[in-house]
Amino acid sequence: MPSRQNSLRSVVLGVGSYLPEQIVTNADLQSRMDTSDEWIVQRTGIRQRHIAEKSETTSTLATRAAEAALADAGRSAADIDLIIVATSTPDYTFPAVATQVQAALDIRSGAAFDLQAVCSGFVFAIATADKFLTSGSNKRALVIGAETFSRLMNWEDRTTCVLFGDGAGAVLLEAQQSNGELHDRGVLTSQLRSDGRHREKLYVDGGPSATGTVGHLRMHGREVFRHAVGMVADVVEEAFAATGTSADDLDWFVPHQANRRIIDASAEKLGIASQKVVVTVDRHGNTSAASIPLALAEAHADGRIKKGDLVMIEAMGGGFTWGSALIRW
Ligand code: ACO
Repeated sequence: MPSRQNSLRSVVLGVGSYLPEQIVTNADLQSRMDTSDEWIVQRTGIRQRHIAEKSETTSTLATRAAEAALADAGRSAADIDLIIVATSTPDYTFPAVATQVQAALDIRSGAAFDLQAVCSGFVFAIATADKFLTSGSNKRALVIGAETFSRLMNWEDRTTCVLFGDGAGAVLLEAQQSNGELHDRGVLTSQLRSDGRHREKLYVDGGPSATGTVGHLRMHGREVFRHAVGMVADVVEEAFAATGTSADDLDWFVPHQANRRIIDASAEKLGIASQKVVVTVDRHGNTSAASIPLALAEAHADGRIKKGDLVMIEAMGGGFTWGSALIRW
């Protein structure tokens, strides 16, 4: 990759996550609606999902994940001057979840805002934080993906409600001087794309301006599936091209966790060995913007992802939006 001496890189200092205690298994769903464990596992790989209690909101999940990331990094909240929360399920239309997290952590300086790119939100948030940090305008950022997608479900609609879950994950990034080499730690590249013509394939049928309601998620599953693998493969290939790397150089592939079949087909198309793929969809379901930081936190905590590893994250979601980021851990 083109080296930029004495430049800034956004380096991962810590990762954390939070999952609500309540677990809903496929068997639980089977007892409530016309579905089966076999159908769900075969089509999606999902076996269970975590569902937030009534008293828990997206900002409470996000705060718990942020606290865990701070503890993992050995940093205090006072060190943070930027908070970006990727979410499509904010507690309220406004204020932003990020400002609620800021208040909960008793941070009184810097900036905090939400970013909405649905399932790609965390990749978009990493890319956004990276621009702030590498421009020198901010020093340390909490980048959080947090969702309560259970609140967007029509629980009578078996074609969508079996797919999603709740949770939050957070990454703490710090701007550090770098020689701009491939082996130097930090975010190496990010590739973001959107195409609003695909709105009807995956959307929520409510909102403050259109209906004055929250609405329910609606999806043409087959159409989403048809586009997902190609879009994801394109942005991952673009990240390889931008950095002069290839699938062989990767230590870990951490895709958005929507569906096991999409994950496997993407890895196969990209020539990424299955043992390098981090999978949590079986236990978390699709947690939208939270899925990647939840998976990163798990693989970091159990020692799979280590300092110096090359980690590719990617996602695709409503909009459509899609993107990738390559990180030297
Ligand atoms: N349990 C039992 N049967 C079901 C269920 C269910 N939960 N849901 C649907 N069915 C039935 C349908 O009614 C249909 O029955 P019919 O043939 O009698 O009409 C049959 O199963 C097949 O339905 P399809 O929708 O064609 O099933 P498909 O094989 O496409 O699988 C799925 C559906 C799993 C949603 C798949 O299309 C998919 O994974 N798409 C990707 C979507 C996705 O992951 N979106 C996540 C959000 S976007 C993102 O994060 C990338």
